[in-house]
Order: sequence, then C-alpha cells, then structure tokens
Amino acid sequence: MGVGHGYGKVILFNEHFVVYGIPAIASAIDKKTIAEVRKCKGKEFIIRDNREATPGYKEEKLEQQRESIRRIKDAMGIKDCIEIYLHGDLKAASGIGASAASCTAIARAIADEFGLNLTDERINEIAYEGEKAYHGSPSGIDNTCATFGGLVWFVKGKGMERLQIEKPVEIVMGDTGIVANTKKAVEGVRRRREEQKDRYNKIFEQAEKLAHEARKALLEMNWEKVGSLMNENHKLLQQIEVSCKELDFLVEVALQHGAYGAKMTGGGLGGYMVALTPGKELQEKVAEAIEKEGFYALRTKIGI
Ligand code: MEV
Repeated sequence: MGVGHGYGKVILFNEHFVVYGIPAIASAIDKKTIAEVRKCKGKEFIIRDNREATPGYKEEKLEQQRESIRRIKDAMGIKDCIEIYLHGDLKAASGIGASAASCTAIARAIADEFGLNLTDERINEIAYEGEKAYHGSPSGIDNTCATFGGLVWFVKGKGMERLQIEKPVEIVMGDTGIVANTKKAVEGVRRRREEQKDRYNKIFEQAEKLAHEARKALLEMNWEKVGSLMNENHKLLQQIEVSCKELDFLVEVALQHGAYGAKMTGGGLGGYMVALTPGKELQEKVAEAIEKEGFYALRTKIGI
C-alpha cells in the first residue's frame, strides 16, 4: 500500500487577483488529507472517500473528483487499476484547499505504491494537473501550499517564495457551510473584468500594492497592520463580487469580537472566511462567537 498527504491552506491575501499574475500570500494549515493507494483488479480506479465533509460537498464534486484522478493517473503514466482511500483531519469543504490537498495526497500515495521516486516539485506539477478538473485554469497557489506547506508569497507562473515568521500565529476559519464552485467564481471575475475594464484595473492595482504592504507587515509580525490590510483585501474582493452575505456576516462577527482583521478566503461565494486572532484567548473568543451563530469554526495557525 502507498500513502501520501497534502495540507489544507488559507489564502491571506489576493485570491482571484492571483489568477492574473498579482502576488498572493497563503499559508498551509495544520490539517491534512491522507490518501492510501493499492493496485487492484478492475478498470481505472475505485475511490472510497472517508473525509468529513460539508453536507453536499462530495456529491457536488464527484464528477470533478473522478476527472481529477484520471488526470493524475495520466500525468503519472499509471495504467493499472487502483483503489484510493481518502481520510485525514482536513474537512472537505470549499475555501480551505480540500481539492488541492487531495490531489497532492493521491499523487504522493500513487508514487509510493508504484515505487516512483518523485521530488516535491514533480508532485506539485502532478497535483496541478489534478486541480485543473476542479478549477479550469488554476493559478497553482493551492497545490503549492498543499505540497510544500509553510507561509508563502506566490506569483502565478513564477512560483513561490517562503516567508519566515518567528512563530506561528492563531487564526480562526469560519465555514458558511455553502458548497461553492470555484470554476464559476473565477469565470465570473473574468467576465466582469472584460465588461468593466477601467474599474477592474483600478481594483487590481490596489490589490497589487496591498500585497507588498502585507508582505512587509507579515515579516515584521505587525498584526494590527496585517489585520487592517486583510479588511481592505476583503473590500476589494467584495468589489469584484466574490463574497456573499454569509461570508460578510461572519467577517462582521469576527471583527465585533476583537479579530485584528477578517476576510473571505479561497474561491468565495460560500466556503470559508478567515480571522486573524493572535493568542489563544482571542482565538477562542472569536471561534465561540462564530459557533454561537450556528457556524463551524476551525482554530488553527498560519506560519506552521
Ligand atoms: C482558490 O482557492 C483560489 C483562486 O484564486 C483560484 C486560483 O488561484 O486558482 C480563487
């Protein structure tokens, strides 16, 4: 049997903008998907998905998941039938890099089962091929976090640069419970950008400037500044229409309970938001406030 893992992720700055070459900042989180792979008799593959999931997520993504596994097998030149078993402590939900984590985990587990000695760079390329089934034309930020872990500065086509901070910092991720379609969200931005060129150019310029300020503030561990830049980033994401009322509500709840900053994270139109909550006490306070409103709250860290 072959085994592999892939990390979940949180995008702290510039999801969507990253698709157009604007820098983004993201971090892996301490939750991962694990894949176990065995050669078996039969055609193509069998998938047993035992991940905890947002209701409806697995059903909604089933076709994309199957297409993704075909792409991964093709990229690795695997013709044999395989059985794939998915589990781990990363909930399968929108906005947290669940699809990328599973692509990386599956690629690693196949490599292990077939005795292929692949570098992380190659695993990342294969996971990117798998991600295409979920995203169409992904920037590559999710599979990069899933494969390499850590806090990263990412530019599409150029890859990642690791950002080192002295110690990890607490965040809360609040789940709207809405299964979102990233492909549709990305297509929507593309269409509106075509229709409203001047307006979108101005928003994109602000996103680029913000990324550089955020990088500096993160490296200085200036959490007040990082938080206020996250708030600004959320406003830009609202302007390009990828937020939704549930995400905006959870952002408000987090801010009202003392979060340094909060924003939607990932593809948007549902899925997760993230709140910056340095220290265990503040993290607990914000997480409890989200839970009190009836939503799932994940307590985790960036920079692990
Ligand atoms: C999805 O996690 C992030 C997006 O920016 C899409 C991508 O980068 O491929 C929305």
